[in-house]
Amino acid sequence: MQLIETVAAMKAQVAAWKAEGLTIGLVPTMGSLHAGHESLMDAARAVCDRVVVSVFVNPLQFGPDEDYEAYPRDIERDGATCAAHGADAVFHPTPEDMYGPAHNTYVVMETLTDALCGASRPGHFRGVCTVVTKLFNIVRPDKAFFGQKDAQQLAIIKRMVADLNMNVTVVGCPIVREADGLAKSSRNAYLTAEEREAALVLSRAIRAGEAAVAAGERDTAALKELMAAVIGEEPLARIDYIEVVDGLTMQPVETVGASALAAMAVYIGRTRLIDNFLYEEEA
Ligand code: PAJ
Repeated sequence: MQLIETVAAMKAQVAAWKAEGLTIGLVPTMGSLHAGHESLMDAARAVCDRVVVSVFVNPLQFGPDEDYEAYPRDIERDGATCAAHGADAVFHPTPEDMYGPAHNTYVVMETLTDALCGASRPGHFRGVCTVVTKLFNIVRPDKAFFGQKDAQQLAIIKRMVADLNMNVTVVGCPIVREADGLAKSSRNAYLTAEEREAALVLSRAIRAGEAAVAAGERDTAALKELMAAVIGEEPLARIDYIEVVDGLTMQPVETVGASALAAMAVYIGRTRLIDNFLYEEEA
């Protein structure tokens, strides 16, 4: 497996693979890799000739008061994880190489980015759409793999690819959880032992919501109230948002119908965690 640290070297490798007629799968990440990322690599490995994992903590998607500096970085450990999961290359460029001093072009989406995490994190999805577009242009993947854990991000990337006629198939992969239910996240590393215990309230609320919907609850106000009540039982938890939206448009819905997405962001102490479930109505 190669560690590729410049845009130019990555483009050269991609050109060589394309010349051989090989298909390329891309797994975009910010590193600090865990089983959630590994599931994306495994999915890519199963269907692509060459697998590239990008490891890039993208400064553009962090707000001024967010954790860009503190975000965990360990390229050696991440490289070993990628090798163990059959990646052919880890693309690990510097911020200076990705965003030169004259950089002046951004990919900005309209309403899809206003809701949920977009409302709490202004500019976040502008940073995500811009970096993912750049990664697509550099790696030219046939398929790119994203997790349902970041449901809004997945919907936004799918919309962007369709709207801008990008030549890539976006593959969504299920949420990977710890044995006790907590969704895997690089930010779980910030939690103290007490907060780690408290963080279980997110998956508890998700399960309570899913159970209510399975039992026939269709009123989203009641569903949100029920999930908020579960979160409310945990003194270390503070709700950023709990919303039920259409899974494609991210617009709030009043009734749980086909492909409704129940999504939440909750602070546990100073750490902001997200979780969600998708309700897919049986035909
Ligand atoms: P990052 O948070 O590192 O996540 C990289 C990918 O892993 C995303 O597609 C995310 O949804 C997926 N992922 C994270 N935790 C997961 C879990 N528990 N189960 C399944 N998939 C999971 O998302 C980003 O980085 C960035 O915004 C990025 C797309 C790389 C652009 O900078």
